[in-house]
Amino acid sequence: MTRHRVRKALIPAAGRGTRFLPLTKAVPKELAPIVTTPAIELVVTEAARVGVDEVLFVVSPDKHGIAEYFERDTELEAALEQKGDAAALELVRRAPDLARFTFVDQKDPRGLGHAVGHGEQFADGEGLAVLLPDDLIDDRDQLLDTMLNVYSEHGGIVIGLIDVPRSEISKYGSVALTPDSDPEAEVVAIVELVEKPPAETAPSTLAIIGRYVLPPEIFEALRATQPGAKDEIQLTDAMQRLAHDGVPVHGVVFRGRRYDTGNGLDYMKAVVQLAGRHPDIGSDFRAWLREYEPEDG
Ligand code: G1P
Repeated sequence: MTRHRVRKALIPAAGRGTRFLPLTKAVPKELAPIVTTPAIELVVTEAARVGVDEVLFVVSPDKHGIAEYFERDTELEAALEQKGDAAALELVRRAPDLARFTFVDQKDPRGLGHAVGHGEQFADGEGLAVLLPDDLIDDRDQLLDTMLNVYSEHGGIVIGLIDVPRSEISKYGSVALTPDSDPEAEVVAIVELVEKPPAETAPSTLAIIGRYVLPPEIFEALRATQPGAKDEIQLTDAMQRLAHDGVPVHGVVFRGRRYDTGNGLDYMKAVVQLAGRHPDIGSDFRAWLREYEPEDG
């Protein structure tokens, strides 16, 4: 069987963003800026860099800001053109030019598996990359590229993994490797997936991060998946179902730089790290940081 390259990505973005209230009363969390670029643009850029040219956002009806951000704004462009501001023009065209964008509403959100289930028509029988926008991968490091290579070699499911302290594994999906898999290797074969296991019984300390390559069979598995952890339809449970049916599951263990923007503290760490290498303000910001003495409390 020849496996085509993956050129479609789904990005779930229907969450309420409760951890970012009150901002998220008015601004979708995915648009929270890393200096001046919405975090979600960095995720789309990561996908576009490995050849994705169609992106489906699964959103809630109040998230029109995301659609606006990825659409062209001809009025603004005309005004900038008239002013002769080529630099600003380039910035406002950058996101819409990354790929072709479509949107689907996830009414009554019932978990990540439920969100991914909205991608069946869009995937149309092709392999699908899924990127969770809370996870940013440094653009100097490779993850998705390696995952796509593993997918074209083995097919099935490919997931991104990181090794975490055992005390943290219950925040993630976790995996058991085949007996002959080397846990130190970059690519590992997986026999079992468990969503948010208690630390004591977790099959390993390898945690699923927000990068997946999924085969078309995932949609049938999702339909057959009952609510699991947190009473939500879990993508991990649907992948476990396919693993059980003999679909190959591989993991790529990522040891590079990842930034979690899922809560206030981690988000601020990500902003500081990424601001430090921003093309315009990076060197001044780093110089300032070296001098900065935080006050206690
Ligand atoms: C989701 C997945 C989980 C994965 C995590 C990565 O959980 O269900 O398997 O480890 O993303 O961020 P959530 O963070 O939405 O609870």
